[in-house]
Amino acid sequence: MASITIRQLDESLKQQLRLRAASHGRSMEDEVRTILRAAAAGTTEATPARAAPRRNERAAAESPAPISKPMVPVGHKRILLIIGGGIAAYKSLDLIRRLRERHMAVRCILTAAAQEFITPLAAGALAGERAFTDLFDAASELDVGHIRLARDADAIVVAPATADLMAKMAGGHANDLASAVLLATNRPIVIAPAMNPAMWANGATQRNLAQLMHDGVMTIGPNAGEMAEAGEAGVGRMAEPLEIAAATEALFGDQGERPLADKRIVVTSGPTHEPIDPVRYIANRSSGRQGHAIAVAAAAAGARVVLVSGPVNIPDPPGVRIVKVESARAMFEAVESALPADCAVFAAAVADWRVATPGREKIKKQKGKAPLPLALVENPDILATIAHRKTKRPPLVIGFAAETENVIANAKAKLERKGCDWIVANNVSPETGIMGGETNSVHLVTAEGVETWPSQSKDEVARALVARIAGALTGDQA
Ligand code: CTP
Repeated sequence: MASITIRQLDESLKQQLRLRAASHGRSMEDEVRTILRAAAAGTTEATPARAAPRRNERAAAESPAPISKPMVPVGHKRILLIIGGGIAAYKSLDLIRRLRERHMAVRCILTAAAQEFITPLAAGALAGERAFTDLFDAASELDVGHIRLARDADAIVVAPATADLMAKMAGGHANDLASAVLLATNRPIVIAPAMNPAMWANGATQRNLAQLMHDGVMTIGPNAGEMAEAGEAGVGRMAEPLEIAAATEALFGDQGERPLADKRIVVTSGPTHEPIDPVRYIANRSSGRQGHAIAVAAAAAGARVVLVSGPVNIPDPPGVRIVKVESARAMFEAVESALPADCAVFAAAVADWRVATPGREKIKKQKGKAPLPLALVENPDILATIAHRKTKRPPLVIGFAAETENVIANAKAKLERKGCDWIVANNVSPETGIMGGETNSVHLVTAEGVETWPSQSKDEVARALVARIAGALTGDQA
């Protein structure tokens, strides 16, 4: 029996077919099928194509169903979930449910490696529509329309984002459906990395991560904990589906309430730990709550946020890129590499001094001898250095002043000395309960004067500050 392919048709026929297919929202091949089906049934009406019976899961995923526009209720967001190949892929099935619970429509792409862990049928069944797997559709000799897949989504979520997928994204590869869609999209991308801790810590992965952040990709996780491999633990577990769903949802705050869209904000938060020896350190009582809340509020306002956090005991906020550090010097380096930015908020309680020569081994008590004096040297002043810088100075630099007396006078002097634009001053005397507590009462000190804000939760302070930042950066001083 003679076989005929679309490619063999003459150009004018192909053009007619293309237009007809486009008007029905079908692939060319499906349009042909529909015409043939109608002809065989003796009808002239081109009825909508129905997927052929599925032979098996893989065949079903490869079935040349058209990329119809997803049926999304008005107001619902469309998420393209790219599932990479890792054991965490099984959590992505739960993620589909979590996204749908939040009224988001989900369409899935599975990489070849993902299909070693979960099936397109399972993803498709949970998403309520066929899962995509291949760049080219062998049956129709047509590409499956990666540009359309990329554009039909409001956001793309990559979970799990394997080291390989991150490398492909960072390098701009497009040799499979997932990478081609990621290269073709102009929509926000959230990645949830998941890999072995050694792979996560590897310089290559960290370089790729830095590139992706620079390109505006948002990350959630990875978290610390036990890995799937027996006996392996560390940073590399994929964030939980609920966290990823919340971060995805946060992308879609009311557009009118996203005044920091496309702005880059760096926030420091928490204390620093300055080592005395391998087991002891100098620290302070900062909980990181205020800095973390500012990062969350800025992300909710649409900003791309890098949160440089000292050691804290509060959860990683979703929707922001977190760089975890211990010491003031490490915090300084992390801030440097997060620049340039439109605004930097220095909320961390950075230790002013570090031990000049921390012990290589645990310092032992010497019986009958006085304790060794600790010689201290000054740490770099991160805020002052960045604020006084001629190049790469963020247009808006905000410092905090933690004071126990003469709050406003000290804050004004700090504004001057540090060279920043605003100081958020607060009284951290023990009786205020602010350090480590839930509420804060602050004064905003600027060149224009001093505003005293009412005592409110740290989240409210964060939202109010972010609203002011948005006003300053967009010139809309509401
Ligand atoms: N800061 C910084 N780097 C330091 C010290 C402080 O970036 N090495 C920042 C803090 O994040 C904060 C501001 O400077 O935004 C003020 O911090 P604070 O501890 O109140 O002031 P100090 O400069 O330490 O001055 P002092 O201890 O004399 O009050």
